[in-house]
This record gives sequence, structure tokens and C-alpha cells, in this order.
Amino acid sequence: MTGITVTPLASSLGAEVSGIDLRQSLDHDILAELQEAWGRHLVLRFRGQALTDPELLAFSRVFGDLDPPGPNPYGKPFLSEFPEINVISNVKVDGVPIGNLGDGEAVWHCDMTYVERPPRAALLHALEVPPGGGDTYWSNMYLVYETLPDRVKALIDGRKAIHDATYNSAGMMRKGMKEVTDPREAPGAHHPLVIVHPDTGRPALFLGRRRNSYVLGMDIDESNTLLDALWEHATKSEFTFRQEWRQHDLILWDNRCTLHRRDAFDPAATRIMHRTQIKGTALQAFDATTAGLALES
Ligand code: OGA
Ligand code: MN
Repeated sequence: MTGITVTPLASSLGAEVSGIDLRQSLDHDILAELQEAWGRHLVLRFRGQALTDPELLAFSRVFGDLDPPGPNPYGKPFLSEFPEINVISNVKVDGVPIGNLGDGEAVWHCDMTYVERPPRAALLHALEVPPGGGDTYWSNMYLVYETLPDRVKALIDGRKAIHDATYNSAGMMRKGMKEVTDPREAPGAHHPLVIVHPDTGRPALFLGRRRNSYVLGMDIDESNTLLDALWEHATKSEFTFRQEWRQHDLILWDNRCTLHRRDAFDPAATRIMHRTQIKGTALQAFDATTAGLALES
């Protein structure tokens, strides 16, 4: 008996884990239960966790080696004492942002898929939240793939897409990048459109982000039409979980089989989140044919 309770938060993904204090070191049984719950629900929420930065780092390391933040628009880490921690905030001190993503919408994406080995997980810890707005949503990309029509599964089987590195989800250009005029030439990793999840072996649609995405080998119009249809399907509310933040919420998500987005919030409000992420591996293509899916062509 670990004393932990896991309660689903939506029909498609997300669960609340209660009866746990993440400041304590967690024994083998508890870790096994967390891993099992995470594999099943993809996004775990822990409420009332007032963690210091070292405590956030220690809990994050339970899930693997830390992956440092990608380049932000300002070109240097937000926390010089803890460069492995990223800050997501709209706050400015003397006109200088203390964190990334501002107060606007962050469009649907998954994190850092423009690199060959995108992070396997991310943890977001709410230190200060606005009274309303700034909700975050996740989508279950296993379910999204499963529910695609066979015709579309056949169309994307064996295909790869470009994951553009130029802009972050708030539309800001990353340091050192230049404007992309042709998505076929966008800088960034090429990943299979359908991946085999490295831990579960299950297929998941892997989209990254829509801006400057391009399906290799297609003409640009065909690629855009296909991507628009895939994104429309992937972000339907029936596949998503909505998080209304409270101070000291900690959310852990799997970055290979979910997408996320964030609502805008009042620029006069304060939102401060500290964030870590865990190193991932290269992503392999799912082969629908050898997996026995009978896809008409
Ligand atoms: C992120 C992110 C959303 C939010 O940290 O990767 O997209 O709710 N954050 O701030
Ligand atoms: Mn993100």
C-alpha cells in the first residue's frame, strides 16, 4: 500500500495523483506506481506541491537525465543558478523578461521536436498563476492516430515531416534564426509522422508544430492540405484535457504522445512557472503494414 490515489481528469488523458509529497524521497513501490499511472494517463497532475528549485530538480531526475532548455529568444538561461530549469513567465523586471512565452496564446505543439532527440517528458511547476486565463490543454496522440480513417493512415504510412526550429509556440523567433519563406527549406529535424512510442511500443501521430511543417516528398499544396486535416483532427476537444492552474500544481507530461497549447491571459496578471525536461531518444517510424493494419491504398 503506497497511499497514492490516481483519479482520471478527462476521458482521453490526464490524471490527478494525490496522497504524495514530492519533497520526500520516493520509494521503489511509489515510483513504480507513478510510472504505471503516467504510462496509462500520459499527463499527471500533483496539487499542493510547494517545491523549491532543488526539489523540482530532484523529482524531475526520477524520470531520467535532465535535458537543458532549448535556445530562448534572449540567448541566455533565465536562472543562472539553475540553468537546467526553464522559466515560463510574462513578468518583466526593469523591462527584461524573467521567462519565456509572454502572456499570449501558445499554439498547439510538442516541445523541441526540431532536434533529433526531443525530450521524453516535461514538468511544469506553477509558482504564481493569474486568477483566470492561461489554461493549458493536452491532446492524446495515441487516440488521435487510432481514430484516423484508414485512408489517412495509408496516406501517412512511412512519411516524414520537417519540424521547424525557427519559432517558439508564442510565435517568437529563437535566437540565431532567420525568417522561413519556404517550409521545404525550414531548419529542423525530420521525424516520422507516425512514431512507435519508445516505452510502450504503441503508434502515435507525431506532428510537432504546424508552422512551417512540411511532409517530405509531397508537393507543397498536398502537404499543406494533409497537415491541416491532421491538425484539425488532433486538436478536437474529445481528445484533450484542460488544466485550470492553481498555485503549486505540478504537471508531468509525456512529450512523445501528447501535444499541448496554452490560452492567453491578462497581461497585467502575474504567471510564473518553473520547468524541467527529460532527455529523450531518436524516434522510430511505425510500420502500419508489418503491424498488421489492413490499409487500403
Ligand atoms: C511549455 C509550455 C505552456 C504553459 O512549458 O512547454 O508550452 O502553460 N507551457 O505555460
Ligand atoms: Mn511547450
